[in-house]
Amino acid sequence: MCGIVAYLGKKQAYPLIVDGLRKLEYRGYDSSGVAVLDENLSVFKKKGKVNDLVNFVNKENGDTSGTIAMGHTRWATHGEPNDKNAHPHLSGNGEIALIHNGIIENYATLKNALIDLGHEFKSDTDTEVLVHLIEEIQKKGNLSIEDAVRKSLEKVVGAYAIVVIDKKSPDILIGARNSSPLVFGLGDDEFFLGSDASPIIKYTNKVIYLEDEDVITINRNGDYKIVNLQNKTSTHQIKELDLKIEELEKGGFDHFMLKEIYQQPATIEQSMRGRINAAEGWAILGGMSKHMNRISKSKRIILMACGTSWHSALIGEYLFEEIARIPTEVEYASEFRYRNPIITEDDFVIALSQSGETADTLAAIELAKEKGAFVYGIVNVVGSSIARLTDAGSYIHAGPEIGVASTKAFTSQVSILSLMALYLGHERGKISGGDYRELLTALEVIPQKVEEILDQNDHIKSIATEIKNASNALYLGRGYNFPVALEGALKLKEISYIHAEGYPAAEMKHGPIALIDMYMPVVVIATNQSAYEKIVSNIQEVKARKGIVIAIINEDDTIIREMADFFVEIPTTAEPLSPLLSVIPLQLLSYHIALMRGCNVDQPRNLAKSVTVE
Ligand code: M6R
Repeated sequence: MCGIVAYLGKKQAYPLIVDGLRKLEYRGYDSSGVAVLDENLSVFKKKGKVNDLVNFVNKENGDTSGTIAMGHTRWATHGEPNDKNAHPHLSGNGEIALIHNGIIENYATLKNALIDLGHEFKSDTDTEVLVHLIEEIQKKGNLSIEDAVRKSLEKVVGAYAIVVIDKKSPDILIGARNSSPLVFGLGDDEFFLGSDASPIIKYTNKVIYLEDEDVITINRNGDYKIVNLQNKTSTHQIKELDLKIEELEKGGFDHFMLKEIYQQPATIEQSMRGRINAAEGWAILGGMSKHMNRISKSKRIILMACGTSWHSALIGEYLFEEIARIPTEVEYASEFRYRNPIITEDDFVIALSQSGETADTLAAIELAKEKGAFVYGIVNVVGSSIARLTDAGSYIHAGPEIGVASTKAFTSQVSILSLMALYLGHERGKISGGDYRELLTALEVIPQKVEEILDQNDHIKSIATEIKNASNALYLGRGYNFPVALEGALKLKEISYIHAEGYPAAEMKHGPIALIDMYMPVVVIATNQSAYEKIVSNIQEVKARKGIVIAIINEDDTIIREMADFFVEIPTTAEPLSPLLSVIPLQLLSYHIALMRGCNVDQPRNLAKSVTVE
């Protein structure tokens, strides 16, 4: 949700900023802009992708020289995506430039007060209000730019990560955050600020994750100072990043999404490394073991997440109730925080997030903690806000996920949830020794089975050809595979813009069946599970209404392959683990359909990878 990068050092800053923006583009891509300070403060902004900005700068023959600069790639909140609303925004006197990720909630009040003082605004954004406020406060109090920024932020309600450059202070870069991420990178005689580490890692692996209400002032001479809004100095540990630059590249694949789908045998294995040993008969998670006393006595589990992570959470509900026998509820983080939920100290709350920065999930965690619950994080991005806010947790270790449509994070989250349920079920004595060993063994061989499904890519592509022109699609599944139906539908709609709905297969007859006709593809997850016969009946009901059935079946299936228009065979596994396999063909199907429809699979319209606003 908007990407920020800034540089202060000895090199020419513009090429570094453009390179950084390309890495951050997955966070927002409706417009972008840069500000470079040399003798002049030059600002270039353009609607569209980073390439459009670069072409514009080249065409204008813009002056991009300077060793201090910042760039922004936008996901619009206030004001439509166009040139004037793109960041950076300038103060009225043109001397202060600002980039921002977040929302200034009280912008309207501030804007009216500034208009009364004679300020004129050029954009429709909340961000421009903040840069005018800084200018006003600086002028009125005759303040340094650092103090003006800090005092302005005291008046702001909302979420922000900002970077400010002031023409009058050419050796200073200022950054600040509240609820939106900002990372400070410390290189040799050069310094960076970024929404995440991706634009920084090429130059240094030493970083500081800024905390809420931190304001950092970085000086060209190498000094830096971090204070809070009350001007009290805060100290932060420098961390070493364990991230390789190749992880941020497509690695020979046409798209990040395809690379990430194909990484799944490795990422699922990585999520389990050192956490399971079927031969010795154990599953353990370090994050849980230290708190097992408290966790195993929990009266209830509450899983909270958004989007695809919420679908993983739904699978978690089935796993925890079946294997650990603890009543489990699943909450949309965005809904949970705006009611008055009943949470007690006996609750074990688990928050799931790939990015670790989702604003709604963060707020829900804060609420759960306030009410005394123990909060556990299942997070991908190391050092992210959710990883730091939770009481304990497990990283899924999937590596950077750059395609906006989440794929490998989903399977790694489900793998961690399976391990947690097994560990907890075993500790609580709720799973028999035989079932425990059987599930451990089945879990360990999941990566090889995913590999077998990926080998069917061409076949899945041929099915995509048959249904690519559909306007609607229905996804059906039962039990553990109902959340997979939801996930399959989400994947299709977000990257191909085909309207798709996921439904519990048995619910179809209570309404959605009215939609079925000869043009409606119905994707049915029909693996050999407890409700197999019921799924067969559901398929009959679709066929009777001339729907096009695409079935995901097991290799030994003999019935559904005869009924379906198209089918994909997947290896058999234990039912609780079946989502780890059944989701793979659905990811590939969406990928191919989107590509055939000419859609941008890695950067679908209107979306951004990490949703850091409410
Ligand atoms: O980073 P998070 O897991 O917290 O993100 C949650 C959702 O925004 C995310 O899963 C979103 O739904 C994806 N676009 C799904 O592919």
